[in-house]
Formats: sequence, C-alpha cells, structure tokens
Amino acid sequence: MLSSVLKELEIDPSSRSTLAGDYERFADGLPHPLEEYVRDRYEINLSSEYGGLSIKNPFGKGSGQLSLNVSQVRRDAEDGLGFVILKTIIAEDERGAQSMSEWAIHETRMIVERIKGANGSEGWTVTWKGRGWYDTFEKYLEFFGESLRVVQDMGMPVVPSCKYHLPRNGEGEWKLGEYQYTTRRLLEVWKQHGPQGLTMPIEKDFSPTLAGSDRAAQKHTILRWLMRVTGLIRQAASPIPIKVGLKVFNAVFEDAFQLEMLRAINERCEAEDAPDFLVYGNRLFDPDREFDGVRGVAYGGPDLSERNLAVLGSMRALEHVGQIPICLLPISATGNIVTGRIAAEYLLRGASSFQIHTYFQLPSSEYKMRTGSKTARALHELYFHPEEGLLAWLLHLRRAFDWPVDWNIKQMAEFCVDPANRVWASATASVLR
Ligand SMILES: Cc1cc2nc3c(=O)[nH]c(=O)nc-3n(C[C@H](O)[C@H](O)[C@H](O)COP(=O)(O)O)c2cc1C
Repeated sequence: MLSSVLKELEIDPSSRSTLAGDYERFADGLPHPLEEYVRDRYEINLSSEYGGLSIKNPFGKGSGQLSLNVSQVRRDAEDGLGFVILKTIIAEDERGAQSMSEWAIHETRMIVERIKGANGSEGWTVTWKGRGWYDTFEKYLEFFGESLRVVQDMGMPVVPSCKYHLPRNGEGEWKLGEYQYTTRRLLEVWKQHGPQGLTMPIEKDFSPTLAGSDRAAQKHTILRWLMRVTGLIRQAASPIPIKVGLKVFNAVFEDAFQLEMLRAINERCEAEDAPDFLVYGNRLFDPDREFDGVRGVAYGGPDLSERNLAVLGSMRALEHVGQIPICLLPISATGNIVTGRIAAEYLLRGASSFQIHTYFQLPSSEYKMRTGSKTARALHELYFHPEEGLLAWLLHLRRAFDWPVDWNIKQMAEFCVDPANRVWASATASVLR
C-alpha cells in the first residue's frame, strides 16, 4: 500500500552526504534556530499549523507525564519543540464535582519497555497506572498560566487538554456544569497569559483506557460522544471562540469501526458540533494485560502506528475514488512516531503535525546524542538521521511529487489530501482490495 512510496530512500548523493555529515556534527547539540538552518541548508520549510496556531516545526509533545510541570515545558521550548500539549485535566463543575474522577488518579509506577509488534518489528511502550491530572483544578490553572508565561517569547504554543463528562450507555444527560466551569476557567487563563488576539485550542481527550470501561462498550455511545462534545465545549465557551480538537481513541472494535468514527465526525456532525481539528490516534488497549494489580492497560509501539496508518490510509483511499467525502479537518498525528519516516507516513495521510510521548522517554543509550535532554536527543534523530530522519524523507517526497521548495509542512499535508493529486492513485488498488 502507500507505505511503498517510502520503502526506499531516493535522494541525490550530495544531500545524502550532507545529512550524514549533519547527523554527526549535531550529535553534541542541535543548531539554533534549527528551522533557519534547515531552510538555508536543505531549502525545507518546517513550519506548519496546530489548532489554528502557527508552529515553527511539526514536532510536539503529546499530553501526558512529560508535560505536567513548568520546568518540563520551559525546557522543551528551549530545546526547540514545535508545541506542547499539557497533561489532561479532568473536568469539574463549580462545586468541584468530577463525573470522570476515576481518571484522576495518582500514578504510582511507570515503566518503559520493549514491545514486539504483530509483524515482528521491535519497538517501545510505556506502561503505567495513573490517568489524568491528580492535583486540584486551581493548581492546573496555575500551571497552565505559568507555562504560557514562560514560553511567551519562545514561539512555542502551549495547549490544554481536558477529559469532559461522557455519558454512559443509557445515561441520557450530559453534565453541562463540568463543561461550562472548566472551559471558562481555562479561557480566563488564556486571555490573561496567552498570546494576544489568538483563539485558544483545546484537546478533548478520549483516553485509550476508556476503551476498557463500560462507558465505551457500545458503538453507538461512542459515536454519540464524537458527534456531540465539540458543540458542548463551544457552547460552554460562548461567546468566546475556541478551537476544539478531538483526540480520537482506538476503540476495542475492528478497524472498520475506527473508520466509522472518523466518518461520523466528518460527515454526520451538525455545523456547530464539527471539531476544528483531529488528533489521531491515541494508544491501543489490551483488556487482558495486568500491571500493578490493574487489569487492562493501554499500550503503544509498532502495532499502534500500523493500525493508525492503516485506518487513515483506507480513509484517504476511499476519498480518492470518491466513495466517501473528503475529510479536510487538519490532523495532528500521534502514535509510535519514533522516526522521521513514520512522521512522513502520517504526513502522506494528511497529518500536518506530529505529537510524541514514548520516543521522548527511551533509555539514553537509544539516542546518538550523548548530552542534553531527551527532547533534544530525540529531535536530533527525528530530523537528521540519514536513513530514517524527516529531512531525508521530505527530500524524497519533494522529489517524488515535485513539491515547490518553499512549501511548508502544512502545504505538503494539504497536497496529500487533495484527490486531484497522484499520492493515492498508486495506493488505492491495494488498499481497497
Ligand atoms: C504515560 C502516558 C501518559 C499519557 N497521558 C495522556 C493524557 O493524560 N492525555 C492524553 O490525551 N494522552 C495521554 N497519553 C497519550 C500520548 O499523548 C500519546 O498520544 C500516545 O502515547 C501515543 O504517542 P506515543 O506512541 O508517542 O507515545 C499518555 C501516554 C503515556 C505513554
């Protein structure tokens, strides 16, 4: 299928040796500002967009344990990350009631382990017990405000993530008080400390552990959530505008249902219920695995990117042959982005930014760079690796599709979605087989 486009790296020999030289040269520290260097040296424009905000490069940190204090956020900005999504807060109403409180538990243990994908490829996964933010909402608001302040002049968007109430099957009512109170307080912080005149994006987290709860046992319940939450967040924010991104989870059902989830969002939402962007797709869920006495764990690794790429790929292939309407929602990709090549695979399916968690947590021996933070070490690999890095694969794709040199990542992603282009022509036959 489409990944065949990325099977063998075809770039000219001089670019190949420039990349190999830069990979060695920057093993002691990345150039600053990296984006300028990349533009001058490779004529590649790394800028893009996330949730309606400009980002200087497409690599960001996904919500989680690596974005729950100000020093992590500051360090990421200094190390040149494109954007950071803060740890998910569990919504509450003005009396402090949280209907999703089972997700607000303190993590006790987190381990990074090797994992083998179904096709035998090796990768990494993080296993832990905790879920959302476990401190008070007031502390989260302070953290959000302080994070916005420290990155003010560093050109790195900081964005909140929230898990709002989702009614169980048969539970009719939505707890609107949680939507209203939480959204409004977050917007107050954005207004005070955020970039002036820009609309706040927010990620609505549908956590993978939802997949193992009775809440997500019914397909129609999941579809109802996906088609309704955006409107509720917008109403809660009103009259202040907000950009809502749905972080779509991998349900425990088959791939066809993943596609149905994406299609429901794209095709079946009333105008005010349609999100502004998507984050696709959060981790897989294994109901049988046990960790620290808890049965059922979320996991990542090669099976996660395999599944996400397959689902997005089938959606694009069906769009290409006119069987389904095109999904033009911007996509921020997440899921086993451990090389620039995998990021490029997501790009080919229309993703214009890439969110990472696991790859920022590997043992230090997994990165060539021997000093600096894990963010810097990971970015060094993600950009400059001569065979697996993003720069190598962007050069490859530019050559394959004749992209203009001044295109940025967002423009490349838009090209890949447009059925008039030949990205999907070769892939369609096999994907639809
Ligand atoms: C330890 C851990 C905690 C996470 N916590 C959250 C969270 O609070 N909210 C959220 O939306 N995603 C959370 N995630 C999901 C990540 O943001 C990311 O989307 C997912 O792990 C896939 O990316 P990866 O393969 O690079 O890890 C968490 C992931 C891990 C590993």
